[in-house]
Amino acid sequence: MDGGKELILSERLLAIAQWIRPGSRVADIGTDHGYLPIWLLQHGRATFIAACDMREGPLEHARRSAEQYGLQEKLSFRLGSGLSCVVPEEIDTIVIAGMGGETILSILEAAPWTNNARYTLLLQPMTKAEVLRPWLSEHGYSFLRERLVLENRTYFPIMALRGGSACRPLSLGQAWGGVALQDDPLQGGALDELLRLRTYALNGLERSVVPKNRERAEQQRAILVQLRQMKGEWLHANGKRN
Ligand SMILES: C[S@@+](CC[C@H](N)C(=O)[O-])C[C@H]1O[C@@H](n2cnc3c(N)ncnc32)[C@H](O)[C@@H]1O
Repeated sequence: MDGGKELILSERLLAIAQWIRPGSRVADIGTDHGYLPIWLLQHGRATFIAACDMREGPLEHARRSAEQYGLQEKLSFRLGSGLSCVVPEEIDTIVIAGMGGETILSILEAAPWTNNARYTLLLQPMTKAEVLRPWLSEHGYSFLRERLVLENRTYFPIMALRGGSACRPLSLGQAWGGVALQDDPLQGGALDELLRLRTYALNGLERSVVPKNRERAEQQRAILVQLRQMKGEWLHANGKRN
């Protein structure tokens, strides 16, 4: 960091930023305030950054933020949906953070060129991680690592992936509880929260008289069995008692 004032990132964005290797060429899709690109420039993590958003308002916000830190000339601001506004050859790292898992999925579905080993993808779904994880794994994106961040009493997963791998299905437990979180210190709490929410959903389904909900209840039970098993394994692996 040289000279000017330093931008302080939230823990969630900092966790993503710290996974970006110095010298990367980054596309930040859905940049909004532009804080992540600014931090990356300030810390010499990226040699090129496309700060992209589908809406003019957020992109203007990113421009204003960059101006505040004197970095507006060093960022490339792009207006467009998903990855439509970047050229595959200009980047090697794709960040899609702060959106729903289904939106992230549809952005990647519209850009099949990302399914290639030359790209590192850093994804941070706010919701529906259980939909995003199996889609990624079944479409040849392999999980390099995952971690959790706890912000405002909510657990957010952050995933690093690489395309161009063999497609493989995930278990229900992996879809809901994560693929590479066995050693994460926050995983015990995150699994407890998932167990609480899934139990609540199951209780509702069991009270229902709609026939289709019997099938849904069965699926919730299967998810709960696998999440309980994951919790036991996490306790064991991390030297904690049940
Ligand atoms: C909640 S903000 C997240 C900002 C930042 N990435 C973060 O994690 O703090 C979501 C941003 O994504 C943008 N967005 C949503 N869908 C998008 C899409 N398909 N393509 C590009 N930007 C999108 C929105 O306009 C908004 O600015």
